[in-house]
Amino acid sequence: MTAVRQKIIAGNWKMYKTIAEAVDFVKNLIPLIKESPVSVYLAVPFTVIKPAADQAKGSSIFIGAQNMNDASEGAFTGEIAARMLKDAGAQFVILGHSERRHLFHESSELVNKKVRKALSEGLQPIVCIGETASERADGATEKVLQEQLLQSLAGVSALEMKHVILAYEPVWAIGTGQAATPEDAEAMHRFCRKCIADVWGEDVSQQIVIQYGGSVKPANAKAFMDKEDVDGLLVGGASLTLDTFSNIIHYHSQS
Ligand code: PGA
Repeated sequence: MTAVRQKIIAGNWKMYKTIAEAVDFVKNLIPLIKESPVSVYLAVPFTVIKPAADQAKGSSIFIGAQNMNDASEGAFTGEIAARMLKDAGAQFVILGHSERRHLFHESSELVNKKVRKALSEGLQPIVCIGETASERADGATEKVLQEQLLQSLAGVSALEMKHVILAYEPVWAIGTGQAATPEDAEAMHRFCRKCIADVWGEDVSQQIVIQYGGSVKPANAKAFMDKEDVDGLLVGGASLTLDTFSNIIHYHSQS
């Protein structure tokens, strides 16, 4: 039996947009997505969380962050705590994005600490996993995904897993214009669901939302979303312009 899962399309703005640009974007996005059954998430820079969340109030847009520290508070110059993100209006946080793993050397162990902290503070984590081009060329994709998934989510209870979103983002597809094929994404999502079923049971594996990310555009969004095990998308570059992001959200009307 397959569960009916929520469709969640998230934008990851990375290090783009000022407060004025973000508020304007959210204000203009609201009427464009009014009729959409899809949940829309926007992961924005820290400085923009509060104004964007205020602007999004009463709409179907959820505002979140792109990273956080695993500690509650402390002498950690330049870091930000889950409590502070919530206080500013964040409802979710992206954790373990490949740019964090590769540019800032975050291990799955650290991602795991952050995931558990986010859950304990009531922030929904979007947990990213994905193989590099060379891992793929070596035939190690499944091994890498399984390791990142199990280590990043270690110790998370079955109940907590219902609040977790998993994002499969092959590193070679991020920002390259070279997306995975929808068939490849579907196969990897199925593999992730199987890994989840082995640890947390069939129910959890059928309920968890799994997003695909990596060079998603209006032209390929529908092909990904048409796949049974693809429940959503994590969109970088194409989430920065209103036109492309709203077209992705309305993927069902793309030919
Ligand atoms: P991209 O980025 O859509 O620009 O490839 C995806 C991501 O980094 O989440």
